[in-house]
Amino acid sequence: MSAKTVLITGCSTGIGAATVRHFAEQGWNVAATLRKPEAVQFEQGSGRVEKFALDVTDQQSVDAAVARTLERFGQIDVLINNAGYGLFGPFESATPEAISREFRTNVDGVFAVTRAVLPHMRQRGSGVIVNVASLTGLIAMPLYSVYAASKYAVVGFSESLSHELAPFDIRVKVMAPGAVATDFSGRSLARTFEGDGGPYAESIRKVMGTFQANRASAGATAEQLAQALYDAATDGSAQVRYVVGDDALAAMQMRKELGEEALLLGIRQRFGLA
Ligand SMILES: NC(=O)c1ccc[n+]([C@@H]2O[C@H](COP(=O)([O-])OP(=O)(O)OC[C@H]3O[C@@H](n4cnc5c(N)ncnc54)[C@H](OP(=O)(O)O)[C@@H]3O)[C@@H](O)[C@H]2O)c1
Repeated sequence: MSAKTVLITGCSTGIGAATVRHFAEQGWNVAATLRKPEAVQFEQGSGRVEKFALDVTDQQSVDAAVARTLERFGQIDVLINNAGYGLFGPFESATPEAISREFRTNVDGVFAVTRAVLPHMRQRGSGVIVNVASLTGLIAMPLYSVYAASKYAVVGFSESLSHELAPFDIRVKVMAPGAVATDFSGRSLARTFEGDGGPYAESIRKVMGTFQANRASAGATAEQLAQALYDAATDGSAQVRYVVGDDALAAMQMRKELGEEALLLGIRQRFGLA
C-alpha cells in the first residue's frame, strides 16, 4: 500500500514541527506548510517531507500549497489545521485590528485550508480533518476573551462540519489541549495592552503568574500533542472532541463534578480574581 499523506499548517515550531516529525517517523508523506519554508529544515524520517509556503490568511497561498501537495503526493488523507496564535489581555484595550487579525488567522485560516482540501476529500470519499483548538475553546480562561472566542468558533465549526461530512466518509475532529510547552506564550502571544495594562495591571499580573506556574507544572509537551494528533487522525473512530493534557482533563472533570457555575467561580478563585 502506498504511503498516506498529511498536510499540516503552522509547521515552523512547536506542535506543528513536532507533528511533522511524528508523521514522518511513521512513514507518512508530509506536506509541511509554513510561512517561511526557507527558515526550517526537517529530517525525512522513514517517510517523505516536503515544505510548502502557506500563510493561512492568504487564500492564494493556501490554494497553491494544496495544489502542489496533490501534484507531489497525489492525495491528501489527513489535514491538520494547527496554525494559530494567542491574544492576551483585557478586551477593553483590544483594537478592532488586533481582533480581526486573530480571527483571520485562527478562524478564517481554518476555513480557508479546509475549503481548499474538501473537494479532493469529497471526491475520494475519505479523509480526516483535525483542527487544533484549545481547552480555552471549551472552558474560557480569563484575559483571553478574543482568543477564547476564536477557539470556541473552531470547536463549533468542527462539530457542525463533522455531521455535514459524515455522508462522504470524511471525519472531522477537534483537539483541545491545555498548556503545551511551545513558543505559544512567548513569540506567539500578542497582547491587547501597552505597558502594565493600567486599571487591569493587577489582574494581568495574577493571571500571568498562574499561567506560568501551570505551564511549568502541568503542561504537555509538543511531542505529546503530536502523538495525540496522530492518534486522532488514525484511530478510525467517530470521536470528535479530544481533550489533551492533565490540566485540561482535570478542568473537564471539574466541570462534570461541580457544574458550570461552580467551575466558573473556581476559575476566578484560582486566578486570584475572586
Ligand atoms: N502551546 C499551548 O499552550 C497551546 C494550547 C492550546 C492550543 N494551542 C494551539 O496550538 C497551535 C500551535 O501553537 P504552538 O503552541 O505550537 O505555538 P507556536 O510554536 O508558536 O506555533 C504557532 C505556529 O502557527 C504559525 N502561524 C501563525 N500565523 C500563521 C499564519 N498566518 N499562517 C501560517 N502559519 C501561521 C506560526 O508560524 P510562524 O513561524 O510563521 O509565525 C507557528 O508555526 C495554535 O493553534 C495554538 O492556538 C497551543
